[in-house]
Amino acid sequence: MIRLDQVSLSYEKGPEVLKDVNLHLPEGSFHFLTGPSGAGKTSLLKLIFLAHRASAGRVHLMGQDVAALSRRQLAKARRQIGVVFQDFRLIDHLSIYDNVTLPLRVAGQKEASYQQNVIELLDWVGLGGHIHALPETLSGGEKQRAAIARAVITRPKIIIADEPTGNVDPEMGIRLIRLLDELNKMGTTILLATHDQTLWSQFAHPRLHLEDGHIRHIANTPEPHPEAPIAVADEVVT
Ligand SMILES: Nc1ncnc2c1ncn2[C@@H]1O[C@H](COP(=O)(O)OP(=O)(O)OP(=O)(O)O)[C@@H](O)[C@H]1O
Ligand SMILES: [Mg+2]
Repeated sequence: MIRLDQVSLSYEKGPEVLKDVNLHLPEGSFHFLTGPSGAGKTSLLKLIFLAHRASAGRVHLMGQDVAALSRRQLAKARRQIGVVFQDFRLIDHLSIYDNVTLPLRVAGQKEASYQQNVIELLDWVGLGGHIHALPETLSGGEKQRAAIARAVITRPKIIIADEPTGNVDPEMGIRLIRLLDELNKMGTTILLATHDQTLWSQFAHPRLHLEDGHIRHIANTPEPHPEAPIAVADEVVT
């Protein structure tokens, strides 16, 4: 689903942020991306959600070399990727419903074709009572659930999340990961960058650790959590 072959990245005259990174994330996988501040996590995610180009090497998404895509094909590929940011990036003057449906309106879909789905999705993420609210009236966790709903409304094959729990309390952080877990169980490939060890250590998903420009694959053995018995990780992706 996501493959990086010998990918390097540097900004202008700066040092290499990514050095010869090789990565293969199969369809339906869920990986955490960890590493110290400045290690290049956001930079790596940007390569994958097509906001940046590698300085060297190849990025393949859904079997396609992204460097070979036309502008139109790139736009189509982008629609297969849902992105969730730490700071939510909701549009202040639009209601939650209008924020979540924006990608559909941009794609020219008629409201009658999606209205019911959106209401069900907002119910599913626990925002059924806030459909017409403005973002400023929601808590951090609620805003992030709205942002996740917006990221998944187009049914992307891949969700990229950059510190999605950075602005919510630890308990909400766990709930947000569980929500992403549910989407992963339905087949969505997920890559989630986080600093937060107390978060990733509670889930069985393998971890990609980025440091000094290199990636290490680490199987993750979750610490027991009272509410969620989780199977021990049994794969290390190479
Ligand atoms: N647009 C840019 N122009 C120049 N340098 C950049 C740019 N974006 C990031 N960098 C540099 O690249 C390096 C990696 O940054 P990046 O934001 O990818 O790290 P990160 O692992 O996401 O850090 P954090 O955990 O703090 O979010 C840093 O040294 C940063 O200063
Ligand atoms: Mg970052």
